[in-house]
Amino acid sequence: MRRKIAVIGAGPSGITALKNLLDQGLDAVAFDRNQEVGGNWIYTENESHSSVFETTHIISSKTLSQYEDFTFDDFDPSISDYPSHNELRRYFQAYARHFNLYPYIHFGTMVLDCQRNSEGNWVVTTEREGIQSTTIFTDLVVCNGHHWNPRWPSYPGTFSGEMLHSHNFKKAEPFRGKKVLVIGGGNSACDVAVETSRVSEMTAISWRRGYRIIPKFFFGLPSDKIGERSKWVPLPIRNFLFDLLLKIMVGDNNLYGLRKVTNKFGETHPTINDELLYKIRHGKVKPRLDIKSFDGKKVVFEDGLEEEYDTIIACTGYFLSHPFFDKKLIDYSSGPVPLYLKMFHPEFVNLYFIGMFQPLGCIWPGAELQAKIIAREIAGKWTRPKNIRELCEREVTHPHYRQVDTPRHTITVDFHLFKKALKKHLPKNYTSKQPITKKELETA
Ligand SMILES: Cc1cc2nc3c(=O)[nH]c(=O)nc-3n(C[C@H](O)[C@H](O)[C@H](O)COP(=O)(O)OP(=O)(O)OC[C@H]3O[C@@H](n4cnc5c(N)ncnc54)[C@H](O)[C@@H]3O)c2cc1C
Ligand SMILES: NC(=O)c1ccc[n+]([C@@H]2O[C@H](COP(=O)([O-])OP(=O)(O)OC[C@H]3O[C@@H](n4cnc5c(N)ncnc54)[C@H](OP(=O)(O)O)[C@@H]3O)[C@@H](O)[C@H]2O)c1
Repeated sequence: MRRKIAVIGAGPSGITALKNLLDQGLDAVAFDRNQEVGGNWIYTENESHSSVFETTHIISSKTLSQYEDFTFDDFDPSISDYPSHNELRRYFQAYARHFNLYPYIHFGTMVLDCQRNSEGNWVVTTEREGIQSTTIFTDLVVCNGHHWNPRWPSYPGTFSGEMLHSHNFKKAEPFRGKKVLVIGGGNSACDVAVETSRVSEMTAISWRRGYRIIPKFFFGLPSDKIGERSKWVPLPIRNFLFDLLLKIMVGDNNLYGLRKVTNKFGETHPTINDELLYKIRHGKVKPRLDIKSFDGKKVVFEDGLEEEYDTIIACTGYFLSHPFFDKKLIDYSSGPVPLYLKMFHPEFVNLYFIGMFQPLGCIWPGAELQAKIIAREIAGKWTRPKNIRELCEREVTHPHYRQVDTPRHTITVDFHLFKKALKKHLPKNYTSKQPITKKELETA
């Protein structure tokens, strides 16, 4: 059977997968449940795949958050350092238009099921407008995103107020005049607390450990640019220096009434926020410890403090989720994730994952490099290492960062080290900025 490739998802990872497969003259199509390109970056007030809210701006800066084949300068050089969700959506859609990807994407199409048949090919069942159909593909490239299936916390007792997850937080206005408790110390929690504090009667934030709050700028430069300038420095020294810089520029958490940081830099996914500490020092956000229990609208904290809240917003992260696979075949929801370069499966040579990693930085530049390697493999221009099983295991036993053992820390990579590792598998001239023409594909 001629290679025929299905890409699941047309978000930032799916479009670069499709682009690079087509670039190699391969027969590829993508399926997306949405009606447009953009994935997580299609903001809507209704429940959807997306987890962004009205005011979301990225936390990785623009020059470290672009495809090499289609940079922000190729799109709109006037884009700010930290683009908004809307600017990103437009960027991803411009990428898809520039490379003529739209004819190859089946929108409004949900992938329901992917099974291997006796030849080892993928039997893919999709649903569009209530009609199911099944197609056989030789290869499957999974780009379904990993920030959409909410992970909820649980506590003794019952909370009788309103409780929602950050996935469903869209804007601050509904929380005007309310007493709001935000749970978590990740980027969602800190962004949400800052937003609700603008309108709420009171906003508090509950942390189960101490987190470094990294500003978006140091010395007038985006903070990830400082990281980039020191990328040649060995990781432990780089992290020590970054911590020192943070101590000098921001100070210890106890100055803000926040929990003390007890782990090393990189041991938790970084939280980047310029407004939380300001809001705390202006009395708009109150730091709280972990929750011990609920009793009606009352929340009891670890230190015995009891307070009443109208709303709790759990910003407690997301499951790695692949509902179209039988769980016996693929289930990474509670880790570990033994995939070589976070994309090659130890056993199934025709199954790939793109963008399923959590960089200390942006996802899609790494996804673009992954896509190029996969496309070259399927096109017969690159051969995977023979000891793939061993390499998959090594990903688990030798992570870039030894992180605290919580569910969100199963797929972390260092942005620069990961890109370097991927580039080793690509030729020097791997960028390709030319639009793909239908003629090229037909003659391939
Ligand atoms: C609030 C927020 C802010 C973030 N900020 C940053 C940031 O600053 N920098 C960064 O790098 N990352 C950030 N992220 C992480 C985010 O996951 C990535 O930016 C990016 O969206 C990943 O792209 P993706 O294509 O892998 O996944 P997604 O963007 O999630 O796209 C997946 C696509 O797959 C489709 N899909 C899923 N399942 C199916 C199915 N069964 N059938 C058909 N289609 C399906 C979806 O409709 C979607 O279009 C943020 C996440 C959140 C929630
Ligand atoms: N502006 C932006 O660009 C922006 C905004 C939001 C999100 N994001 C990105 O989106 C992704 C998801 O971020 P996220 O903040 O939604 O999720 P996350 O990174 O998984 O953070 C979840 C937070 O909740 C805590 N938590 C989990 N379970 C808990 C429990 N049972 N009790 C108490 N605390 C609990 C975690 O603690 P532990 O430390 O113990 O794990 C962590 O602090 C990340 O990649 C993030 O960078 C970016």
